[in-house]
Amino acid sequence: MEKLLFSLLTTQALALCSFTQHCDQPPYNCDTPKPVSPPYPPFMENFTAPYACPTFLGQEVCCNDDQNAAMNYKYFLLDETFGHTVGGCDICASNMKYMWCHFTCNPNQAQFVQAGPVIYVPNPVSPQQKVLTMLTNFTVTNSLSCELYQSCQKCPYVTQVSAMQSPEGFLQFQGYEGISIEFIWTTFLFSDGPEALDLELLPCNTNVTSMFGYNIQPCTCNNCLNSCAASYYVSSPSTLEGLDWPLVGIAYLVILGVSMIIFFSKYAWKKHQEKKMRDIQPYEEHQLTDSLNSSAS
Ligand SMILES: *[C@@H]1O[C@H](CO)[C@@H](O)[C@H](O)[C@H]1NC(C)=O
Ligand SMILES: *[C@@H]1O[C@H](CO)[C@@H](O)[C@H](O)[C@H]1NC(C)=O
Ligand SMILES: *[C@@H]1O[C@H](CO)[C@@H](O)[C@H](O)[C@H]1NC(C)=O
Repeated sequence: MEKLLFSLLTTQALALCSFTQHCDQPPYNCDTPKPVSPPYPPFMENFTAPYACPTFLGQEVCCNDDQNAAMNYKYFLLDETFGHTVGGCDICASNMKYMWCHFTCNPNQAQFVQAGPVIYVPNPVSPQQKVLTMLTNFTVTNSLSCELYQSCQKCPYVTQVSAMQSPEGFLQFQGYEGISIEFIWTTFLFSDGPEALDLELLPCNTNVTSMFGYNIQPCTCNNCLNSCAASYYVSSPSTLEGLDWPLVGIAYLVILGVSMIIFFSKYAWKKHQEKKMRDIQPYEEHQLTDSLNSSAS
């Protein structure tokens, strides 16, 4: 009870925002985000653009109208990079949107996002150019990173980039790409402590057309590893699940028996041939001595 009360109190105390961003609209032009110091509490905001994060609809959030507009643009890019239009998996794209929604809008933002210094770093797109960027640490659970990676693993873009071949590599790469998209360089930290963001993500083989408020197309074996296993087992349930194990045992015995028969017949044939050779040889020698004798006489 005391523990519950304590965790309730700390959750209340942690309902704070850690960074903000402002843009001119129009023309659409965003400043580098900046940490808010001291952190302030979440607020109600009316968005002019569609909600980038339907999951927080009607709640107090840490993202303002400008950030919502910026997220819509970023989410368009996510769809164009990971979604079905480029042969990818919409569930991967939506899981990522959901995670970035929590990063930008979650009313407990300050609990898992540490907004740090704003500095010039090389632009990943054109490294000779420097961009003013805010450094952030984003603490997530290990299970979140694994689930996200599993849903994205087979997207064409992910398979092509060697840096993205692990859950951690995948996330750090996403955080790095934020430099050129939104002037945020996010470093992911992994922890299973209470400060880490933990989310229930959807596996890419889930058969849905809507998730977290986004309309999607279900993924297939072409872009989701889990779907391949599913289609294999579903289309031929008798191959593994419905196996008749005694029958399998008998089949193995038959195979073993046949192999032994083949082995022993070969062995017997070889022995037989050797015996034949032994029978022939003395005869030939004998014949040879006979002919030698007759020619000598
Ligand atoms: C949002 O809209 C509602 C209703 O239109 C209004 O009462 C409220 O003051 C608005 N809130 C903000 C933060 O602008
Ligand atoms: C991010 O984490 C690193 C390593 O734990 C730490 O050195 C750095 O100060 C952190 N940055 C912020 C903004 O908290
Ligand atoms: C997915 O669900 C739809 C409708 O619920 C159904 O028609 C379709 O066959 C399902 N697809 C798979 C692969 O299970």
